[in-house]
Amino acid sequence: MAANLHLDAHAHSSTGPPLLRDSHGRSITDLRVSITDRCNYKCVYCRTGQHGAQYAELSAEDYLRFIRVFLSLGIEKVRLTGGEPLLRRDLPHIVSGIRSLRTISDRAPEIAVTTNGHLLDDLAQPLRDSGLSRVTISMDAVDPATFERITRVSGSFQAVVRGIQAAQRAGLHPVKINCVLLRGFNDDQVEAFARFAREHEVVVRFIEFMPLEEDRLWSPQMVVPLTEIVERIHRIHPLTPLPPTTSGETARRYGFADGNGEIGIIAPVTQAFCGACSRVRLTSDGKIRTCLFSHREHDLAALARNGATDDDLRAYLLQVIQSKEARHHIGEPGFLKPSRSMVHIGG
Ligand code: 5AD
Repeated sequence: MAANLHLDAHAHSSTGPPLLRDSHGRSITDLRVSITDRCNYKCVYCRTGQHGAQYAELSAEDYLRFIRVFLSLGIEKVRLTGGEPLLRRDLPHIVSGIRSLRTISDRAPEIAVTTNGHLLDDLAQPLRDSGLSRVTISMDAVDPATFERITRVSGSFQAVVRGIQAAQRAGLHPVKINCVLLRGFNDDQVEAFARFAREHEVVVRFIEFMPLEEDRLWSPQMVVPLTEIVERIHRIHPLTPLPPTTSGETARRYGFADGNGEIGIIAPVTQAFCGACSRVRLTSDGKIRTCLFSHREHDLAALARNGATDDDLRAYLLQVIQSKEARHHIGEPGFLKPSRSMVHIGG
């Protein structure tokens, strides 16, 4: 009897529910959902500054249904992005809806938001109360004038600093700051950001600039490489490398030698991490992207509109994930930018 029970349990785990695993053996556990491609900033490295094409947004209930189906296939972490996700009035409702769902290990999924922080002063506490786990704030300069030159919105710097403080008060720890470095625009900010990280007790993560902008700004010369960032900070505040916290972690982590904080560097250009990619994306109009640089999207929303059941959606996702690209080809001859830019794909 006991032996039978043991056998049954074993049989169940080996035939358990099918999970998202791509044709390169990577487990997909991280879902990024863009809930709008509207943005209240016009950052020079992202937008043209003109009013561009906008794609549809789905209802909160549509996103929640898709997220529930994704969770049943092994997704453990959901990141809401945009555009600027805080522009959606129903964001707290979406967060609490996700919070009430369960992963396959019967846990609440981890929920993060990537935001420019402009509206966070008022929203940090309501989002925390809705069940948000963490927040990442995009901030590309700690000098107010440089910041406003990049965002092309006046008063943006003060608003974002208030947003950071509100997030900390609300207990959304650790607050992470994403800084995209662009040669000639804000590459003089590296050392100042290291000081900012220590003073404000935030984790700053520098991101190498990728060719995902609406304009044609990207060139290899525009990229500030990981090695340069580490060397420059190390000169003023000695750094020691830290181990990754998770296997799919994108950032290389470095601690300040005096133990007072850490920085991270996300180096998709000079040290690509595609081999450990655990991500899949859903655009605001309900299309699956298996890579930031995909040339093909898979229309999950259309399938749902045509009456697909949850089982149909699951079968579709399991099949779509098989086409996940082995890696991106930034900087190689013949590289083609994806047809949608970052503001439409979501970070
Ligand atoms: N290259 C690198 N990072 C980018 N981001 C936006 N566009 C680019 C780009 N072309 C960043 C945003 C945000 C995160 C989601 O991605 O600043 O922090």
